[in-house]
Amino acid sequence: MKATAKAHTNIALIKYWGKRDEALILPTNNSLSITLDGFYTTTSVEFNEELTKDRFVLNETAVEGEQFQRVTKFLDLVRSLSGKRLYAEVASVNAVPTAAGFASSASGFAALAAASSKAIGLNLTETELSRLTRQGSGSACRSIYGGFAEWQKGEAVDGSDSYAVPIAPREHWDIRVAAVVLSSKMKKVSSRRGMRRTVETSPFFNGWVDSIPYDLEAIKEGILNKDFVKVGEIAEANCLKMHATTLGANPPFTYWLDTTLSVMQTVQQLRDSGIPAYFTIDAGPNVKVLYLPEHEEKVQETLRNIPGVSDVKLSRVGQGISYLEDDTFV
Ligand code: DP6
Repeated sequence: MKATAKAHTNIALIKYWGKRDEALILPTNNSLSITLDGFYTTTSVEFNEELTKDRFVLNETAVEGEQFQRVTKFLDLVRSLSGKRLYAEVASVNAVPTAAGFASSASGFAALAAASSKAIGLNLTETELSRLTRQGSGSACRSIYGGFAEWQKGEAVDGSDSYAVPIAPREHWDIRVAAVVLSSKMKKVSSRRGMRRTVETSPFFNGWVDSIPYDLEAIKEGILNKDFVKVGEIAEANCLKMHATTLGANPPFTYWLDTTLSVMQTVQQLRDSGIPAYFTIDAGPNVKVLYLPEHEEKVQETLRNIPGVSDVKLSRVGQGISYLEDDTFV
């Protein structure tokens, strides 16, 4: 009872920021992302009658504590769906540099959901898999699909209609993302805690939620028409709105460093010089820059020259979940 799956991380252009149910991981707004080919997790799961507890090995190191608890809690969901009370050996390899500021939890939970559900014999559709993945980490439910995906928040209290759907496949549009690495320090406020504090205390939160349907409709039109300026403008503004809600929280907080602002300003200067490039930022200081293939060299060089930038990692639009033959996994 073993299976291996590979999942890529994603970057949200319309952010998921706020939960209406913390236990089921149900969001207050729809979100939309690009799956990225440069960053992924490969996970193998083996259920075994002889095990007396779960085991989780990440990058060849056994994991305990909170990270282990999240994995084993997720496996409980898979066990209850299948009706089988079996423990598992989980081995994951992350090709997501934690320092790049990408949520490795997105590729991590998508790969875990795919491998564990297959290993235990559940034959899930993509919708069912996305719904299951959501309960590990919200943003991960979008990584089931390649290309462009939207997580529909749903209305049902049991979360049955809260899952991601594909918007356009990766072949639809070759746009690029540069991950600008500034700091590898662990963030002070995790996205989970930051989201909660914002929902509970920020007077800007309702404004954020109210603005989402307009951003979503416009960005989907932009994606389908391959209108880069439109997509970039909406993504950048949506990111700024999300970060503005944290400044209104109590106590207030921000994920930005001084170098985050330098990168944002440099991207705006690139635009002034005629190169369309736009930024987006998740719950951390690092910046992701969207650009078109013909500007790769210039964008990369400009970003690398900003003082305080330690690395720039380039990525294309990536693929959805894939299953590997076990012997191909190292
Ligand atoms: C800012 O998916 O990491 O990256 O559901 O609590 O696990 P949990 O949160 P997570 O939050 C990601 C927030 C974000 C925006 C996004 O990816 O949409």
